[in-house]
Amino acid sequence: KHFSAAVIPGDGIGPEVMDEGLSLLETICEIHGGISFQTEILPWNCRYYQEHGRMMPVDGLEKLQPFDVILLGAIGAPDVPDHISVWELILPIRRSFHQYVNLRPIKLLRGLESPLRYKGHADLDFVVVRENTEGEYSNMGGRLHAGTPYELAVQNNVFTRFGIERIVRFSYELAMATGKRRLTAATKSNGINHSMPFWDEIVNEISQEYLEIQTQLTHIDALAAFFISRPENFDVVVASNLFGDILTDLGAAAVGGLGLAPSGNINPDKTYPSMFEPIHGSAPDIAGKGIANPIATIWSISMMLDHLGERELGKLILESIEGVLVEGKIRTPDIGGRATTREMGEAIREQMYRR
Ligand code: NAI
Ligand code: MG
Repeated sequence: KHFSAAVIPGDGIGPEVMDEGLSLLETICEIHGGISFQTEILPWNCRYYQEHGRMMPVDGLEKLQPFDVILLGAIGAPDVPDHISVWELILPIRRSFHQYVNLRPIKLLRGLESPLRYKGHADLDFVVVRENTEGEYSNMGGRLHAGTPYELAVQNNVFTRFGIERIVRFSYELAMATGKRRLTAATKSNGINHSMPFWDEIVNEISQEYLEIQTQLTHIDALAAFFISRPENFDVVVASNLFGDILTDLGAAAVGGLGLAPSGNINPDKTYPSMFEPIHGSAPDIAGKGIANPIATIWSISMMLDHLGERELGKLILESIEGVLVEGKIRTPDIGGRATTREMGEAIREQMYRR
C-alpha cells in the first residue's frame, strides 16, 4: 500500500525528533515490503513567519489537504508570540480538517517506572479523548479600556450540541471497540453554569445508548487529583478542549514525562487528513543539544499507522520502544540516561529489525 504524509518538523527540538521519526518510517517500509510512504517536508515554522509574516503560505491548507496524513514536530520560538505560532498553524489545521478528536493515550510503557511508584503497569493504561475544535479555545471575545484601571478581557466558551455529541459518541465507540467498560467525562458544572450543565446533559443522553458502559461525570479538579491517586479507575476519559489539554500533560507526567507522550488529531470520518504529533512543544531549553527524547514522536507514528489501518506495524513500533526501555541501556536524559536523540532512535530501529 502506498501512503502520503506531509511533514512539518517545526521549531526547536521539532526537527530533531522528526529526523528520528522519518528514519523510523524508512525502516518500516524496508521491513515491510508491501508499504511505502511518500513524504513531503514543509518548512513552516517561526523562522518562516519572520521571513514571510505568516506561519504558512496563503494556500497552506490546500497544499496539505491531498495528503493521507500530516506529521508535526513542534511549533514555537521565544521571539514569536505563542498565540501567533499556535493560532496560525496548528489550530487552523485542526479546525479546517475537522480533526475533532485529540486522542492521547496515558500508558506506562514496560521498562519505565511511574513517579507514582506504587502503581503497576496495568493500572496506568487509559486514553484521554480531548475535544479539539471548540470549547474554551474559541477565538471569540475581546479586550477593552487598555491603559485604564477598568481594563478587561472577555473570552467566550463555545459549546455546540453537534460538537459535544460527536466527541462523546466517539468516546463511547472507542470504549466499545477496545473492550473497555468505563467512561469518565470531565465536567465543572458546579462552577461553570451554562456550558458545563449542557455538556453533562448530552453525556447523560448519549450514555443511554451505551448501557453496557459505566458512565461517570467527575469535576475537573477532583479528576486531576484522581489521575494521581487512582489512575487505575480510568479506561476512557472524555474532556473539553482546555480540560483535556491540562489533563493530558498531567497524565504524561504520571507515565514518565512529555518526552514520551504522543497524540493524534483525528478526523474519524476521514474526509480530511489527520495529524499526528508529540504533545510536547519546541523545548527551547534543550533545543540544539541533540538530547530530546524522540519516543513521543515515534509513538505518534505508531498511532498514525493504527489510523491508516496498519495496526500490526503500529504494534511493532510500540513493542520496539518497550524493548529498548526494558533493556535499559539507552535512554535520553529526561528518563534518566545519557543517550542522544539519534542513539535512542537508532536503538528503536534496531529493535524493529530484531522482531
Ligand atoms: P515544552 O513541551 O516545549 O517543554 C516543557 C518541558 O519539557 C521543558 O523542560 C522541555 O525541555 C521538556 N521536554 C519537552 N519535550 C521533550 C522531549 N521530547 N525530550 C525531553 N524533554 C522534553 O513546553 P513549553 O516550554 O511550555 O513551550 C515551549 C514552546 O513550545 C512554546 O513556544 C509553546 O508555545 C510551544 N508549544 C508547542 C506545542 C505544539 O507544537 N503542539 C505544544 C506545547 C507548547
Ligand atoms: Mg498542551
